[in-house]
Amino acid sequence: MDSPIDRAAKRGPAVVAARITVNGKDTPIAPAAPHTTVLDFLRERGLTGTKEGCAEGECGACSVLVARPGVHRPTDWVAVNACLVPVAALDGQEVVTSEGLATAGEGGTPAALHPVQQELAVRGGSQCGYCTPGFVCSMASEYYRPDRCAHAGPADGAVRADDGEHGPNGFDLHALSGNLCRCTGYRPIRDAAFAVGMPAEDDPLARRREQSPPAPVATRYAQGDRTFLRPESLAEAVRLLRERPEAVVVAGSTDWGVEVNLRSRRAGCVVAVDRLPELRTLHVGPDRIEIGAAQTLTEIERRLGGEVPLLAELFPQFASRLIRNSATLGGNLGTGSPIGDSPPVLLALEASVVLADADGEREVPLADYFTGYRQSVRRPGELIRAVRVPLPLSPVTAFHKIAKRRFDDISSVAVAFALDVEDGTVRTARIGLGGVAATPIRALATEAALEGRPWTARTVEAAARVLRTEGTPMGDHRASAGYRSAMLGQSLLKLYARTTEAVPS
Ligand SMILES: Cc1cc2nc3c(=O)[nH]c(=O)nc-3n(C[C@H](O)[C@H](O)[C@H](O)COP(=O)(O)OP(=O)(O)OC[C@H]3O[C@@H](n4cnc5c(N)ncnc54)[C@H](O)[C@@H]3O)c2cc1C
Ligand code: FES
Ligand code: FES
Repeated sequence: MDSPIDRAAKRGPAVVAARITVNGKDTPIAPAAPHTTVLDFLRERGLTGTKEGCAEGECGACSVLVARPGVHRPTDWVAVNACLVPVAALDGQEVVTSEGLATAGEGGTPAALHPVQQELAVRGGSQCGYCTPGFVCSMASEYYRPDRCAHAGPADGAVRADDGEHGPNGFDLHALSGNLCRCTGYRPIRDAAFAVGMPAEDDPLARRREQSPPAPVATRYAQGDRTFLRPESLAEAVRLLRERPEAVVVAGSTDWGVEVNLRSRRAGCVVAVDRLPELRTLHVGPDRIEIGAAQTLTEIERRLGGEVPLLAELFPQFASRLIRNSATLGGNLGTGSPIGDSPPVLLALEASVVLADADGEREVPLADYFTGYRQSVRRPGELIRAVRVPLPLSPVTAFHKIAKRRFDDISSVAVAFALDVEDGTVRTARIGLGGVAATPIRALATEAALEGRPWTARTVEAAARVLRTEGTPMGDHRASAGYRSAMLGQSLLKLYARTTEAVPS
């Protein structure tokens, strides 16, 4: 039998009801197809500042601002890749493009540049201009970050000697890690970023942060034989999934959007779970931390701060800020990829996954979750509701992601360590590995080679030899099998060197 949301989708009136506010203007989503991206939607309506460079989340030319629930204020202006997000997913939401950042003048012509546009212009931060609107939006998101605060620094805006990643205005350069420029060079762009001031009190977008974010809307958007559904509750979502087993679950769409754009995947029915309140919790208790599967990585990063050092080490190495602003932990586990970056970390933390369906919930240790290449114990119709990390945490931790680029790259190998070393002896060792088998795995033989032994160079060298033999690494275009094995062993030696290096006086 059809659920209420499904019946409404078939009736049709809701099709015309789906709407989005773009640069302050209420705009119907119809007649866009349910898979139409925000990028195509905007460009088809003349907002061609938003560019397509790659259509796979790599270049940031399509960056736009979306009003989202804030971490420190009611609303944050969050930059996202418009090429990956279906416009139907933004029903009832507010979007600002590079055109909307400039104050509109007579006849729609910009009367005044936005401060970030102004700085990019006067500091030579734009040449061909193709990447510029994307940089403008990513920069504006950081400009409006409520906890950005200027610290004492040289008046000329030079980088502080002790921190090359933040400007004297508190601007975090990671905000631009998802934006590529092919002709200007990054120094003038960085100069512009480090020169922007704080938003004026009457800045409309700064003031918008003080009001509630747009509420999630129960969306029933259909065109032809394709439907986009946004249920309001977990109960409704799992009921829908039971009734429509062929439906594709989508959260931040950073994986699904690539499938749609590059592999032309189309779904008859998409069920969006990224705003479900039951998947948006984050609770730190005495015995465990529970992270809702639909929290974005940026939200987790900012909400937890340094509470879980291993996660704090993971996030800056995971894709780019633009991707992390949409990507969820549930989506990373949902792909079942052997090279996803969160599984090694969560394995080392001995995390478990909370799965929910129409019959209720069950908790599965992550170590038992993956069963084969992109396969898991998750049953059809089951959703990942949350991830649980037990407390207390092991004190010696590290996450080593070996990739060709430092940021915004896929792992060749990823290794996460969580060790308890007491009185010079390894009490417990948990090691998670990615990229060396068909699934993320625990390095059980290496853990056994460490536990109960003194934390010395001799133990570590012997354990590193064991670690090199864990898994069944393969050679591909990213790395050879031999390189992957070698990196495993080096990783443990690196951790040991870090824990024993002399602390400078
Ligand atoms: C440019 C780029 C760089 C990237 N870099 C990295 C990287 O460095 N490291 C890395 O690990 N990944 C990376 N990714 C992959 C991707 O960003 C992550 O896997 C991300 O966590 C996916 O989350 P999402 O919410 O966007 O998932 P979606 O795309 O919405 O969904 C992904 C899959 O998970 C399923 N799913 C989503 N939520 C749930 C849920 N709650 N329950 C059950 N199933 C669910 C969906 O059905 C789908 O099959 C990158 C992607 C891009 C485009
Ligand atoms: S077009 Fe390249 S990230 Fe969207
Ligand atoms: S200004 Fe040409 S790509 Fe950046």
